[in-house]
Amino acid sequence: MPLISPEEINRIKDSNDIVDTISKYIPLVPKGKNFFGVCPFHEDHSPSMSVSKEKQIYTCFSCGATGNVIKFIEDYENVSFMEALKILADRAGIVLSLGAVQKKRNEKNGPLYEIYDLSSKFYHNNINTALGKAAKEYLKQRNIDETIIKEFGIGLALKKHDMLIGLLINKKFDMNVLMKSGLVVRNEHGYLDSYYNRIMFPLWDITGKVVGFSGRIYSGEKDAPKYINSKESEIFKKGELLYNYHRAKEEARKENTVIVMEGFMDVIRAYTIGLKNVIAMMGTAVTKEQALLIKRMAKDVILCFDGDSAGEKATLSCSEELLKLGVTPKIIHLEDNLDPDEYISKFGAEKFLRKLENPINVMDFKLSYLKKRKNLSSEQDVAKYVSDVLEELTKIDDDILKELTLRKISEESKLDIEFLKKQLASKEVPKKIQEEKVISKKKLDKYDKAQMYLLYYMLRSKEVIRLYNKKITFMPNEQYRNLAFHISYYYKLYGKINVSSLIDQFEDNKELIRTLGQIEQLNLKEDYSVEEINDYLNTIKEYNVRNGQAELQKRLKEEQDLKEKVRIANEILALKVRREENDK
Ligand code: UTP
Ligand code: MN
Repeated sequence: MPLISPEEINRIKDSNDIVDTISKYIPLVPKGKNFFGVCPFHEDHSPSMSVSKEKQIYTCFSCGATGNVIKFIEDYENVSFMEALKILADRAGIVLSLGAVQKKRNEKNGPLYEIYDLSSKFYHNNINTALGKAAKEYLKQRNIDETIIKEFGIGLALKKHDMLIGLLINKKFDMNVLMKSGLVVRNEHGYLDSYYNRIMFPLWDITGKVVGFSGRIYSGEKDAPKYINSKESEIFKKGELLYNYHRAKEEARKENTVIVMEGFMDVIRAYTIGLKNVIAMMGTAVTKEQALLIKRMAKDVILCFDGDSAGEKATLSCSEELLKLGVTPKIIHLEDNLDPDEYISKFGAEKFLRKLENPINVMDFKLSYLKKRKNLSSEQDVAKYVSDVLEELTKIDDDILKELTLRKISEESKLDIEFLKKQLASKEVPKKIQEEKVISKKKLDKYDKAQMYLLYYMLRSKEVIRLYNKKITFMPNEQYRNLAFHISYYYKLYGKINVSSLIDQFEDNKELIRTLGQIEQLNLKEDYSVEEINDYLNTIKEYNVRNGQAELQKRLKEEQDLKEKVRIANEILALKVRREENDK
């Protein structure tokens, strides 16, 4: 497949300065040669991400995230390399040749994606046949019409157990892969469809590919679970996706707000009344990964979970994950234990939309939660309440909200606000210390150092690359060796080193990118002497020789064949001579 040429990629990168681009997403402050910002790729509270204008790369010294401007867009927007290029080209007014902007299919799981793609088309087609009449009737009665059925790809598994499997076998899919997909099961009669007589809701990954289904009963079977989700696979991980993410993303950005719900049916219902910046969990507690995705969708996050006590608990745990990332969500509480879908049906779209415009802040939500089952005329309960609230306050970053809440509990408890402030401060101190405790870095020995320092200068000097290739071409550590190989190879191709372009050659090899980030963060002095370089080279050589010898000694011991034993012994001798020469 003809992809975009390196020249075109470079042109797009040249037109999108990395500092300008990252500034659009997170505030950057200049410091020395570089710019610094709070890293969006981990739970960061202080600016750990450094951005180099000169090199056009970023590295996070806390989580190791590293990349160039394209990589940043890929990871921040959760898009593929090609899509990131397209975004950047658009911004710079560069027209990409259309043929090139094809989504590259993940080769490894290609068949799984194809199976899901085909199945979703198959199910969707079923619902539009005469056999889909009852299902459509059910959906209609839930206010889901033809356009919505189409938009959300809703389908139907028929009342027969060999429909999908027939189609998939016809398409010559490998039976192992079919089993892996979870859409097919095996019993004593052979292979069968997993889904039977259910309305099928496709589930997409964050790029919009169908990776799973949730099938709902609709014709009143008893003792059957309401929804059955397809089993997790290499492409379907419930904790990594958010229902409707790919469709809600744009709208959320425009509105600066994302609304999070519990059930995907609620999202579909919200859509019918014009709300498009809505996503849902997949019936599980929010994971850190999902919280990060939500954080990146929009500045304001509104949680609109079910109004029952399970919904309340889910609201609290989701808030918790978001607060850890520095996001202070707002909350909608629905009365009468209703979920958003039921609320809209009962009170109408108008009232629901108005409710959304008046969310409460997360601390008020917590206050009323903590107040429940407490008697605030009892001193003991007041003490517990105040202590609980203070504990919750240590979790939030928003100073204004902290102050407002302190005032509220001061009034409620009749405790002096200055006293409460002091109490809060004393609770907050140990947390800060915990946070600042630096992750203990692995102690580097002289061999690690020699390899790393050498790589640092290989990234900066042709001379060092040449010396490395002339004298050793082998580093003991696999990751360093790999990086050295890529640097040498890039240099051979282009006759120079450009770190930002080098990253494009890594093709998403995470280890390699991380290693590069680690080397870049060394921040050694820019100039070097040839003696220093030779020192590093000799240290590495010494290691190679020594370890080569240890390996041979081991083999010598284990070897039974006499002739072979002699050969190995000779080899050890030769190494020894070489080592002595080295030491001279
Ligand atoms: P709910 O029970 O709140 O679903 O579960 P809902 O959105 O109100 O659905 P309807 O209106 O009855 O059709 C919330 C989420 O929990 C998961 C689903 O992902 C659902 O969206 N769930 C629920 C299951 O996985 N299995 C179930 O049996 C029930
Ligand atoms: Mn519901």
